[in-house]
Amino acid sequence: MTQPSDPFFEPYDRDEIAYGDAPTAAVAAFLDQVGGGGRALDLGAGAGRDTVALAAAGYDVTAVDLSRRGLDRIQERAAAVGLADRVVTKQGDVRELSLPAKTYDAIVATTVLDHIPAADASVLWDKMTRALTDRGMLFVEVHTTEDPGSDQSPGRESQAPVSETAGAVINYFKPNQLASWAVQSESQLRVLRYEERQEWDYTHGPEHLHGKAILLAVHAGSFPAWHGQPAAFPRSGT
Ligand SMILES: C[S@@+](CC[C@H](N)C(=O)[O-])C[C@H]1O[C@@H](n2cnc3c(N)ncnc32)[C@H](O)[C@@H]1O
Repeated sequence: MTQPSDPFFEPYDRDEIAYGDAPTAAVAAFLDQVGGGGRALDLGAGAGRDTVALAAAGYDVTAVDLSRRGLDRIQERAAAVGLADRVVTKQGDVRELSLPAKTYDAIVATTVLDHIPAADASVLWDKMTRALTDRGMLFVEVHTTEDPGSDQSPGRESQAPVSETAGAVINYFKPNQLASWAVQSESQLRVLRYEERQEWDYTHGPEHLHGKAILLAVHAGSFPAWHGQPAAFPRSGT
């Protein structure tokens, strides 16, 4: 089944839902070590792999996406694990959200800032960072110009296979771009983890390569019990 207005309808309609069940690794590591509780926002939540993990960690989560099919799958997934009460889905454009200051204890944006034009991504970034509480966690993942779907170097020279959903990515981040946003003083963040890397994706369509930047940060002045990923010295027996 296809739905021309939603490029993600079919990937989210599959029995094996695109992007799988497992939350983004850095989000999972943070929730595992630090835990959750409070209010969370999942922007471009898709079919909800991060939403459900946030809810399971104790957050009340608002999941926002353009894809009705994705949001329906989130509700199904949350209900299946008894977390329906912790998840609210909202169909809409992340660019049109008004995000009240100091409201969310966690904001996750796994590959959505790269699905909107660069100028809009910058505006949304400012809204997101202002919307974090003093103990808030922020996770952002974006495709970079290393991605073979990018029209810029080095991705455009790559011969590696491109994602079936690459057409939806319109704003490939340049090297260090996300890092520079995170460390500007107005962002009021403390960076826990930043990485730029290539990764193979086997979770949807023919296997393909990505270029990604990932950022895990907390509000400046917040010092949760974060031990790294992997934890530098895990507790014995864990
Ligand atoms: C690559 S998927 C990632 C989904 C999910 N975050 C994950 O990692 O599993 C990108 C998602 O962003 C959503 N999206 C793209 N542009 C959007 C916009 N302007 N407002 C809301 N959602 C958007 C798409 O519908 C899609 O579900």
